[in-house]
Amino acid sequence: MGIIIRMDIRTLLARYGGDVPRYTSYPTAPHFGPAVDADTYASWLAATDPTAPVSLYLHVPFCDEMCLYCGCSTTVARRADVRQSYANLLVREIGLVAAALGKRRRVTHIHWGGGTPTALPGKAMREVDAALRQHFDVENDAEVAVELDPRHLGGDRIAALAAIGTRRASFGVQDFDPQVQQAIGRIQSHAQTATAVAAMRGIGVRSINLDLMYGLPHQTPAGAAETARRALALAPDRVAVFGYAHVPWMRQRQKLLPEAALPGPLERFASRAAIDATMREAGFVAIGLDHYARPQDSLARAASEGHLVRNFQGYTTDDAPVLLGFGASSIGSLPQGFVQNHADVPSWREALNAGRLPVARGIAPTPEDRMRAEIISRLLCDLSVNLGAVARRHNLPLAWPTAALRTMERDGLLVFDHGRIRVREEGRPFLRSIAALFDTRLALAGRHSQAV
Ligand SMILES: C[S@@+](CC[C@H](N)C(=O)[O-])C[C@H]1O[C@@H](n2cnc3c(N)ncnc32)[C@H](O)[C@@H]1O
Ligand code: SF4
Repeated sequence: MGIIIRMDIRTLLARYGGDVPRYTSYPTAPHFGPAVDADTYASWLAATDPTAPVSLYLHVPFCDEMCLYCGCSTTVARRADVRQSYANLLVREIGLVAAALGKRRRVTHIHWGGGTPTALPGKAMREVDAALRQHFDVENDAEVAVELDPRHLGGDRIAALAAIGTRRASFGVQDFDPQVQQAIGRIQSHAQTATAVAAMRGIGVRSINLDLMYGLPHQTPAGAAETARRALALAPDRVAVFGYAHVPWMRQRQKLLPEAALPGPLERFASRAAIDATMREAGFVAIGLDHYARPQDSLARAASEGHLVRNFQGYTTDDAPVLLGFGASSIGSLPQGFVQNHADVPSWREALNAGRLPVARGIAPTPEDRMRAEIISRLLCDLSVNLGAVARRHNLPLAWPTAALRTMERDGLLVFDHGRIRVREEGRPFLRSIAALFDTRLALAGRHSQAV
């Protein structure tokens, strides 16, 4: 019996484990182009509804050490003056965007991401926060979420995190196995992680997220399950479980990983399944592609009530119609489309020094793109979608990929009935490939990471 299941999974991985996007937007970032520039962004900002709330994303592209697996847009910046001058430019960008918006806006969510936002000195974090509050009406109960590296929370960082009103803290863990940590260039003890979590609880942070990864060199399913158990001992509210995206053509640093020690697709899948079982046994509910939460957590409630949102930060409860991105490489989402800042800090800096919005590219989705975006996002968030209802809402014809859906149905991944798709639990690991059936731009995009 065991052999049959293994064979089945091997077949499924061969069919649906190919390279597809993570769909944090549709169209995805490789389709952004220079037709959307600083002038476009300024006109889009000016035309947004002044009564609607906005969310803010701040990208800090620095870390204290570089992890070899890292796929994020970040570098090591050792000099404090480099970090401080980046923060000064963030302050300038906040002022420019606020001026283009015209009226003051209400802010419901602030997300500090990276890289590692606390690579900024505490004083610089406070200055950026003060600029936000000078230009925007940040609501008293706004959710302030910060991505943190447990190994580097020293100096004035904890006091700064308290001062900026941090409510949700997200820590990178990846794997606790010393052999894996050695291979990925990230040495982080359980005690170090526990201390960082306790420090955040000490300043009143009530929501803790931990990031784990599967598919890392030397990782085994038993080791991945042990990491999940040790992560659970820290009593997180949410756990993200990312499949290692090996994209050495994009991230040179990944070439330094011991490639021969990377697990194959079947082992990767088994590690994912081992973490999944550990999380469920502990009473966590699976959310979308790669998240777990306690049933009473707001993310779990949003998922069960059908209003979970997927954006550039992954899964969120943030449904504000406007997401403003600040910092090099950050992406914003407006009713008119997506905008992305220059990814390299020098170009981003040059634009800001010249008093220009530092936009490099973007896209204004077509009506057809918007319909497909809704299908893809409902699949990734709800694991179900009513294709006919979406097509009617958008008043557009939609040719269903019936043959491919029937094959997936036969393979046990989903149920397809009268234009409704319901993804089964067995299909959850393959959600990206199911969503890709509705991506008519896929053939035009560049290379992606493997789906599972
Ligand atoms: C910005 S980091 C988290 C905060 C902090 N920089 C840290 O690492 O502790 C975001 C997360 O992305 C995930 N990640 C980074 N590179 C990845 C890759 N190549 N494939 C999949 N996940 C990756 C890791 O789980 C990491 O914790
Ligand atoms: S995983 Fe986090 S700490 Fe490591 S390099 Fe990436 S952003 Fe920096």
